[in-house]
Amino acid sequence: MRKKIIAGNWKMYNDVNGTVNLISEIKKVMSDKNLNAGLIVCPPFTNLETASELLKDTSIKLGAQNMYFEESGAFTGEISPLMLKSVGCEFVILGHSERRTIFGEGDQVINKKIKTAIKHALKPIFCIGETLDEREKGVTFKVIETQLKNGLEGLGEGELANLIVAYEPVWAIGTGKVATPEQAQEVHKFIRELIAKMYSQNFASQLIIQYGGSVKPENAKELLGQADIDGALVGGACLKAESFIKIAEVC
Ligand code: 13P
Repeated sequence: MRKKIIAGNWKMYNDVNGTVNLISEIKKVMSDKNLNAGLIVCPPFTNLETASELLKDTSIKLGAQNMYFEESGAFTGEISPLMLKSVGCEFVILGHSERRTIFGEGDQVINKKIKTAIKHALKPIFCIGETLDEREKGVTFKVIETQLKNGLEGLGEGELANLIVAYEPVWAIGTGKVATPEQAQEVHKFIRELIAKMYSQNFASQLIIQYGGSVKPENAKELLGQADIDGALVGGACLKAESFIKIAEVC
């Protein structure tokens, strides 16, 4: 049985004070609940150290939202895996659609980042997903297959033990337009079957595949009730402790 994992991608929201407030609130709201799901929070880089301190006495894990694929060097404005490790990060989101579309990251760069994260024992939350145009053209599965194969190229099953895949249809991110549970399940099933072909049935059956895109307390139960949906990567609704924890409570 796969454990459900709910991750909050804070995106570019909250300064240090906001981080102290939100994490304190999350700790308060979850204190009288017995959650089955694992929780991860991914604040902006500048707040990771503060977050790490505040999370020390909790079961909540810390993740970053991006990372460069070199350990150090003349890469102005970039953050290395070693830096993330040094502030207590365990996870890193890679290949998010906002990185792909706004910052021009392609599959090859994402592949390098996944390899570097794994080399440094950071657990990748690897995002894939089709645009509305691609869905309407009927090429969703093809896009997913290409992103998955390119992103994981050169990596063996043994190296991917801590991989999380997040299926985030681009048209559902920040739009309020959530995929129906059937639409999401169909793609999650496809991903798991493809992973089984690329690696093994055993590996595929243990892989955590999160859904992301307008997940809220109101739609979480149905989405997370699907056979191949093992958690959520939450944007907007993770910025309020109440709604973040309500999503985790349905698991
Ligand atoms: P929203 O939940 O705001 O749609 O964002 C989803 C997302 O991009 C999480 O990474």
